[in-house]
Amino acid sequence: MNIRLAIACLVTALGLTPSWPVSAADNADRVRQAIGSAADFDKARAAGKKAAFFCVNCHGEDGNSTYDYIPNLAGQNAVYLLNQIEKFADGRRQDEFMSGLIKVLKPEDRFNMAIYYSGQSVRPAVGNANPLASRGQQYYDRTCKACHGAQGYGNEKIARLAGQQPAYLKKALEAYRAGTKLRNDPIMGSIARRLKDDDIAALAAYIPTMK
Ligand code: HEC
Ligand code: HEC
Repeated sequence: MNIRLAIACLVTALGLTPSWPVSAADNADRVRQAIGSAADFDKARAAGKKAAFFCVNCHGEDGNSTYDYIPNLAGQNAVYLLNQIEKFADGRRQDEFMSGLIKVLKPEDRFNMAIYYSGQSVRPAVGNANPLASRGQQYYDRTCKACHGAQGYGNEKIARLAGQQPAYLKKALEAYRAGTKLRNDPIMGSIARRLKDDDIAALAAYIPTMK
């Protein structure tokens, strides 16, 4: 057992949170391992559902958020979720509320909740009533599809977008564009800096309707 792992076991046993960043590769390995075993997966999902009792106030009973400025977690890739949780924990991503909350969650709970939410289904916005949506679709197909996928399902490194909440999408794109300590990413930064306000409005009208 290497020293880092030994300390990790010790702090987990003591209910403390490790202070070093957990690597994205470790997260991916662990999630893939759980997905590979039905018993491990079910155990993590059940524990995650229990641990998420507090999250439902904002992210909704089944991970479909109750507010349009709070992201859905349902259907999001488990590795992506876990990586974002670690970003809140070590300050690479910051939010008034989430940063404090995540720091008090045990590593095991973080993992279990990511597994739980990834298995929930998303309820996309109904209809295409917003007239901006078709412009948003054109922009999406031209620029975003290459990474986020034709259906917006994402993958381990790239967020699922399909069905995401409109005000949250706007906030996220504006944050990447501004590139402050709240949220920054080199890839999304370079994409978002090319977006004008009305491109963002169009994308935030279209993406929530993607199924
Ligand atoms: C008081 C409301 C509130 C509660 C309760 C809450 N969250 Fe959040 N959560 C938010 C907001 C707001 C954001 C978006 C922050 C931002 O803009 O960066 C967020 C973002 C997230 C994200 C990032 C999602 C993405 O698409 O990148 C994850 C993961 C997350 N929360 C997990 C949790 C978990 C797990 C819990 C329960 C332990 C929880 N949240 C409880 C408000 C909340
Ligand atoms: C070259 C690949 C690439 C392209 C093209 C791309 N993205 Fe992304 N996107 C990413 C990656 C990687 C992330 C995760 C970044 C992080 O960890 O914050 C991301 C994250 C996001 C998020 C955050 C989602 C969440 O749940 O918080 C939004 C919103 C987003 N992208 C929208 C878009 C839109 C809209 C476009 C097209 C205008 C686009 N992306 C094009 C790679 C890409």
